[in-house]
Amino acid sequence: MRINYRRWELKDVERIRRFLYDTWLDTYGGFIPHGDIKQYLGDNYNEYALRSFFTDQNTVGFIAEVDGELAGYEKTFFDRKEDRLYVQQLYILHQYQGMGLGRQLMAFAADHALTYNLDRVWLSVMANNTPALLWYQNMGYQIKEKTPFTLGKTTVEHYIGYVPVNDIFQLCEK
Ligand SMILES: CC(C)(COP(=O)(O)OP(=O)(O)OC[C@H]1O[C@@H](n2cnc3c(N)ncnc32)[C@H](O)[C@@H]1OP(=O)(O)O)[C@@H](O)C(=O)NCCC(=O)NCCS
Repeated sequence: MRINYRRWELKDVERIRRFLYDTWLDTYGGFIPHGDIKQYLGDNYNEYALRSFFTDQNTVGFIAEVDGELAGYEKTFFDRKEDRLYVQQLYILHQYQGMGLGRQLMAFAADHALTYNLDRVWLSVMANNTPALLWYQNMGYQIKEKTPFTLGKTTVEHYIGYVPVNDIFQLCEK
């Protein structure tokens, strides 16, 4: 099995768009109606929107490929006003979860945060997404805020918080 990590490129857009449908339905389909998920992705992660990320210097993405297949994807955004780096999306295809890809992608985000002299990576997670919440907490995630998040007709509780970059690096060295 050959694993390759790299920054996303424009040629990846169509694969990422399809990947997001698969991973979002798999992750959220148990508590958010499929129609709402599809509407949200169609509005916010259509091909045009994905392409626009490449002209935004504050947005950088990383991907993990396993034997050439897109297996993991992470989107980061540097909010200049807040002086925060956000991991806005982190998804690993179901069959490749638990292999260390998520941790490695978090390490890329931590490295990226260091280039802005930041000591933490901010991210949000839905309260109902218990496996991911536990996974982030295991990494040192600290919740700072709870806010509603709306997709189509559904509103869910959403946590916003951060993971110190040192905690990420420590776990990755294990
Ligand atoms: C959450 C997610 C990003 C984690 O990525 P991953 O590649 O599966 O995780 P990794 O393989 O890098 O991490 C494995 C480690 O985490 C630990 N782990 C896995 N699930 C855990 C959990 N629920 N709680 C605590 N630790 C957990 C494992 O024991 C392992 O640690 P070890 O090597 O010390 O034994 C991935 O599972 C995923 O994409 N889930 C669905 C999408 C999602 O919810 N994304 C987050 C949206 S906010």
